Order: sequence, then C-alpha cells, then structure tokens
Amino acid sequence: MIDKRVSVFFIFSFSLIFFIICVNGQSRLIGSECWSYSDCSSSVLNSYCKNYRCVCYSPYIPSQNLNMCTIATGEPCPTLSTVCYDNNARCNSTKKGYCECKDTFVQHTDTRVCLRAIGQSCTGAEVACVDGSCQNDKCQCPQPLVGNSFGNRCVTALGENCLQSQECADPHATCEANGPCICNDGFRQVQRADGSTLCKRVLGAACDEDEDCANEYSFCESMRQGTTICNCREGYVRSTDTKKCLAVPLLWPGSCEENLQCHGAFGSLSNCTNFTCSCPIGYEFSENSGECVLSISQYYGKSRIHEYCNIDYDCIQHAFCREQHTCLCEPYYAPTPDKGMCTATPGLPCSSDSVCATMTNSECVQGLCACKINFILDLKNSSNCIARPVIEGDHCQTQDECYDAMDRAHCVNERCHCYTNYHFVLGLGRCIRSRDLNDTCQADYECFIKGDSKELECQFGRCRYRLENTSSSSNPTTIAVITILGLGIIRTIL
Ligand SMILES: *[C@@H]1O[C@H](CO)[C@@H](O)[C@H](O)[C@H]1NC(C)=O
Ligand SMILES: *[C@@H]1O[C@H](CO)[C@@H](O)[C@H](O)[C@H]1NC(C)=O
Ligand SMILES: *[C@@H]1O[C@H](CO)[C@@H](O)[C@H](O)[C@H]1NC(C)=O
Ligand SMILES: *[C@@H]1O[C@H](CO)[C@@H](O)[C@H](O)[C@H]1NC(C)=O
Ligand SMILES: *[C@@H]1O[C@H](CO)[C@@H](O)[C@H](O)[C@H]1NC(C)=O
Ligand SMILES: *[C@@H]1O[C@H](CO)[C@@H](O)[C@H](O)[C@H]1NC(C)=O
Repeated sequence: MIDKRVSVFFIFSFSLIFFIICVNGQSRLIGSECWSYSDCSSSVLNSYCKNYRCVCYSPYIPSQNLNMCTIATGEPCPTLSTVCYDNNARCNSTKKGYCECKDTFVQHTDTRVCLRAIGQSCTGAEVACVDGSCQNDKCQCPQPLVGNSFGNRCVTALGENCLQSQECADPHATCEANGPCICNDGFRQVQRADGSTLCKRVLGAACDEDEDCANEYSFCESMRQGTTICNCREGYVRSTDTKKCLAVPLLWPGSCEENLQCHGAFGSLSNCTNFTCSCPIGYEFSENSGECVLSISQYYGKSRIHEYCNIDYDCIQHAFCREQHTCLCEPYYAPTPDKGMCTATPGLPCSSDSVCATMTNSECVQGLCACKINFILDLKNSSNCIARPVIEGDHCQTQDECYDAMDRAHCVNERCHCYTNYHFVLGLGRCIRSRDLNDTCQADYECFIKGDSKELECQFGRCRYRLENTSSSSNPTTIAVITILGLGIIRTIL
C-alpha cells in the first residue's frame, strides 16, 4: 500500500515538475513529450503533438539538434525563409522552390550531404570536399581523374584508362575491361571549348535539343512520326558513312568529298571527282538549268553540211547523215554559208525562245519558231528576220510588204515607195492621193506638189499656197470669217 502511494506521489510530482517546466520554459524539442496540440508549435515552427510527442508536419524533418522542423535537400520548400536541413542548402525560390545546395556546394552521391564541389575553393576547409581532396585551397581530383559534370564525383576522363569499377566522366560512356572510357554506341566524343570532353549523339540518334547532337552542322530535327533525331542542317547532306555533314556547294563546280554533295547541288548526273563536282563524259554543266546536260560538243560530230559521214553522230548539230554519206541539216534547219552550222528557220517546233535562238529576231510562238512581231523573214535567208517597213524609203523585199504597211505603195529597188500621184503622210503612216493646186480637198495633208518647196494648204475646200502669215490664228477676225465661210460651204454641200 505504501509502495503504491509512494509511486503515485512520485508520478504526480514528476508530472507536475514536467508540466511546470514545459509550460513556463517553452523549450520543447522534437521528440519532447506534449499534452496538447499547441504545446509543440509554440516552441518549434511546423510541429504538432502526436501521441504525446512533438513531431514535424510532413514533409518537414527534424533538424540535427531537434530544435527546428526543416526540409530535406532536394525537397520542395514552401517559402524562401524555410530552413533547409543541410546548413549548406537553401530554398532556391519563393514559388515552387526546392532546398538546394548553395553555390559552390554539391550533394554527395551517397550521403546526400552538401559538400564543396570539385574545382571550388576549400580555403579554411570547414566543409569537406565532396570528392578528391583539398589541395592548394581547391577541391581537386587525384590525377588522372577529373570531376564529372555535376562536380560531385572524381571520374575517369573519356579516353583515359579506367578500372571497370570506375565511373567514366560522361554518363553515356562505359569503362571497357581495362580499357579506356569510351562513348556508348550512338554517341561520339566531342571536345568542349575548355578542352574537356563529353559524349554527344551521332547522326540518326534520338535527341531532345540541338545541343545533344555531336556533329558540326547538325541539329535535332523533328520527324513526321513525332520522333526527334540528330540530322544535318539545311544545305548539308549526310556522308555515306553517316559520320559527317557535308556542305552542298552553291556555285559550280564547288568543292566536294562525295558524289552526294554534287547530286544535291547539280543533279544526280554530276559526280565528285578530285574534290570538285563534275559532269560525266558526254555531259557538260548548263548555267541555265543548273545541271549536267548532254554536251553539244561531245554528242555531235564535226562533219559539215555536204561533207562525208557514216552515221548521224558524225555530222554537226541539227544535221543528219543521209544515205549518200553526206551531212544534211534536219528539217526546219538551214545551213550557214560556210556550212558549219544548221540554223533554225520558221516552223521549227520549239519549247522556248532559246530553241529558235540561231534565227535572228525570232521567238517561239505557239510551239513554233517565228519572227518577232514587226519583223518579217529575210527572203534571202530563212534564219534571218528583218524589220518590217514602216515609212516610205524603208527596206523591202516584196511588193506586199510595202502595200501592207502603207497602202498605196510598192517595192522599188528594195525600198518602199508610194504609187505615182500618191505621197507619204508621216502622221497617218500611209500613202495618200496627192491633190494639186486648186484641186478640191478636205485636209491640208492632201495637198501636195512633187518637188514644190512652197507649202500648200486646204483653203475653203481647195488646195492653195499657204499665204504668208494670214493663216496665223492670231487674228480672230480671220478665224471668224473662215468659220462662217466654212459653215456656209458645209451647208451648201449638205
Ligand atoms: C531549385 O532547385 C530545383 C532542384 O534542384 C531545381 O529543379 C530548380 O530549377 C531550382 N529553381 C531555381 C529557381 O533555381
Ligand atoms: C558517278 O556516280 C554514280 C553513282 O554514284 C556512279 O554510278 C558513276 O559511275 C559515277 N561516275 C563517275 C564518272 O564517277
Ligand atoms: C586532281 O587535281 C590535281 C590538282 O588540282 C591535279 O594535279 C590532278 O591532275 C587532278 N587529277 C585528276 C584525275 O583530275
Ligand atoms: C542567215 O542568218 C543567220 C542568222 O543571222 C546567219 O547565221 C547565217 O549566216 C545567214 N545565212 C546566210 C546565207 O547569210
Ligand atoms: C488657180 O485659181 C486661181 C484663182 O482661182 C487662178 O488665178 C489660177 O490661175 C489657178 N491656177 C491653176 C494652176 O489652175
Ligand atoms: C510673217 O511672219 C514672220 C514671222 O512669223 C515675220 O518675220 C514676217 O515679217 C511676217 N510677214 C508679213 C508680211 O507680215
């Protein structure tokens, strides 16, 4: 009975002491006993009482000395002032921030503690280097190891010998058995500007961004199927071994390493020879089409018209070899006087003006070669178009030319002339019957006396010599008189 009483007394006293300490001291830690919900939160932010013990709200965790609720490294932190568990970590943002190792610190891969990164200063050395050791006030890896891209591990550089257990500097590289660290299949070793190396994706390998692709002139291309792969940029083609992006030349003949480059630029016929694009034998580069075309000089022979031949190919361009073994121009082609060329003539089927080009002043009209407008065929040369006559005295070859152009005109000594008693009026472009002195007339230009230098005009319906200064319209009276008389005449005629 006494024992029981004693223990009850003790329990009561202890509880009382504890209660007094806790209520007055406000010094609860995480793990401390508690009696009400607010007991904990008054001492430690973000804590509450659970099963008579102070605990942190999720996702907070107790600090090392249990006097705070903190956020573990790498976990989301609600506010900038949130205390991170690691002394060398901080909440990196107010909005959607995370507890992250501070600048120059990185997480140790195993312990997840924030330590000095490789390459960072370790002066004072109150915080250990994450890997390697502090040498010359700097966290350094033992030779020949190098820091990995996160700076939290000493690893073997690409190309360096490694032990199989060792990590390679790039996550896309493997340590061969006792061999060097080499990039995995689908990756290629490339050098950064600072001389360090890394593995990037080869042409054809899947990628996320342009930076992933190893090759010069390559980029991360979105394919139609929704995949993205490293491919050559526009203006470049993939080499046959798929290891390089080769430039497609812009100007003939350009420089090349592979036929593909020439095909891309100058058509499938052109090949790369001696590091220059060229056309195959029998072909030549055409500036017009930008491709290799059948070579005129190669495709045709040298035998001129009426010269000896065995086959068509012996003869010059646009000529063929007839049975008597002589060259003749093809239909709608005519030989030049030296018989060294067959030139186009009207009626030659054409696809463009250039087909008719050997015919002067020609064009391709509705699929046939013809003279340009205002040109007519030279009767002496069916490959020559000459200007159509327009005014009296122009060159002509037929009567019709003059008649067609200026009505009452004919061709005399290769020049157009108006018929006798007709004269050419420039303003009308025609030959007009000449009205003599005192003849009836309607317009000044009808009055004309051949060889007479004095000017004639049509006065009151008759051709007269122009009176000196009287026709000058500066005299109103004269005009009025003329008008009245003119009206009178018209009325009389009507
Ligand atoms: C904060 O840290 C997280 C985790 O390390 C990271 O994903 C995020 O980009 C960082 N935010 C800022 C603003 O630095
Ligand atoms: C040009 O290339 C094609 C295809 O690559 C090949 O068949 C041909 O023999 C080549 N010609 C020359 C002259 O190199
Ligand atoms: C290739 O080019 C070099 C230098 O331009 C020249 O000496 C050589 O004859 C060329 N070879 C051929 C096959 O054209
Ligand atoms: C005919 O004209 C064409 C084109 O001007 C010229 O090449 C050719 O020599 C001429 N022929 C004659 C016979 O004058
Ligand atoms: C023209 O007519 C005028 C007067 O009407 C006259 O004097 C002149 O002789 C005539 N001339 C001719 C060439 O008929
Ligand atoms: C006619 O006009 C010209 C100049 O227009 C002048 O020199 C001349 O004297 C004039 N003649 C008469 C007769 O008025």
